[in-house]
Amino acid sequence: MALEVVVLAAGAGTRMRSRTPKVLHPLAGRPLLAHVLDTAFRLEPDQCHVVVGHPANEVKAHFQDESRISWVLQEPRLGSGDAAAQALPAVADDATVLVLLGDVPLVRAETLSRCVAAAGDGIALVTIDLPDPSGLGRILRRDSRITGIVEDADATAEQRAITEINTGILAAPKAVLGTLLETLDRNNNQGEYYLTDIVGKAEARGIAVTGIDGHVPEEVMGVNDRVQLAHLERYYQRGLADELMRQGVAVMDPSRLDIRGRLKAGRDCVVDVDVVFEGDVILGEGVQVGPGCVIRNSTLGDAVEVQPMSCIDGAVIAAGCRIGPYARLRPGTELAESVHIGNFVETKKASLGAGAKANHLAYLGDAAVGAGTNVGAGAITCNYDGVDKHRTEIGENVFIGTNATLVAPLTIDDEAYVGAGSTITKTVEREDLAIGRGRQRNIQGWTPPAKRRTDEGR
Ligand code: UD1
Ligand code: CA
Repeated sequence: MALEVVVLAAGAGTRMRSRTPKVLHPLAGRPLLAHVLDTAFRLEPDQCHVVVGHPANEVKAHFQDESRISWVLQEPRLGSGDAAAQALPAVADDATVLVLLGDVPLVRAETLSRCVAAAGDGIALVTIDLPDPSGLGRILRRDSRITGIVEDADATAEQRAITEINTGILAAPKAVLGTLLETLDRNNNQGEYYLTDIVGKAEARGIAVTGIDGHVPEEVMGVNDRVQLAHLERYYQRGLADELMRQGVAVMDPSRLDIRGRLKAGRDCVVDVDVVFEGDVILGEGVQVGPGCVIRNSTLGDAVEVQPMSCIDGAVIAAGCRIGPYARLRPGTELAESVHIGNFVETKKASLGAGAKANHLAYLGDAAVGAGTNVGAGAITCNYDGVDKHRTEIGENVFIGTNATLVAPLTIDDEAYVGAGSTITKTVEREDLAIGRGRQRNIQGWTPPAKRRTDEGR
């Protein structure tokens, strides 16, 4: 039988107190809605409808590359029941409809499959027992059969004591859903068409209602405010950290690790506290990442050591390199084996050959540094003339003295030396020593200004 998914995502998200639509708020670096859609697509539905509210542009723009979504505009927002009704005309008549909430991000495909399978000719809905059910729709049962859902705003004190809640996820054939949605009204405390009212209506018409247990609270919990979002973020991150540890990575504190993207790590990596991985990151075996590092879209070879507080973005780092502390590797950085990048060194579009070193306070931008070359403290490639970027090519086994200013475009050949404090603007040839600095002059018998004044007073 055909399956179509309807994701309700038009809610105003008032409780987030944000200019950003709620479903675009990130969890593990991706919008809530992206999580819901990923899971929905895993069921391979025939269609996936997403109901958005006005203005929908921001949400749509975010998913413009996703061709599997058919968008539905709900305007005005008249409640979840109305949102579902807006989507229905686009659904095939023989389809079973799975309704998901755009703000319930962590539901598992397996739970959804169970829900769809249980719908039959009636309604199946995912429920769960929560110690604190406040704010949520309560499941009403008689003789263990589900007879309705009462929203928190409309519940009596007695009903509020019920701990079984509605997760909002339900499945039913289109025909059943359509008939029931037509019967909804807005006579409730929020003046909305409640999707949840269809359950009571079904009961009255003899349509079967089946409850599916959601099992894990966080997997079926919604995000209405930033506190709930933070709770789900920690839950999700803990799951990722556990997975990493099972794969052989030592995580010093699984509650202080954030993975916002995809991380692949070899065995015996060690990840210290407060580390953030973003985008696609690949770690070889035995990589050590010190506290406070941020690593984004990068590949690190075996036994690379990243010392505390380093930022690595868009870099490819070969085995045995030592980075940091306080290093900043920017996109286009390529380090061959055993390169050392020390504190307060910044690289951008820079390649360093095997064993090259820049141990302190340097900027290497649009540069190639040959194997075995040593870049001294404070050495800077002046790659920008205010309009264009220029390259600096440094050969192998070169010695760049402290505080050298290398004005690009510039070539320094193999085995050359640059004296400390030099400003270098011309090619330095192989094995030459280049010195470009004012000569030192010593003035004998120099009288400092303070002393001069007392002399005048005499
Ligand atoms: C809803 C359920 C509640 C359930 C809870 C679970 C209703 C009436 N209540 O409450 O029983 O316990 O979810 O998290 O459904 N939406 C629209 N258009 C609208 C209004 C809402 O698309 O006009 C969408 C929202 O984007 C959201 C979903 O419907 O994804 C639920 O709306 P929300 O306002 O978040 O309802 P809750 O109070 O969380
Ligand atoms: Ca909600």
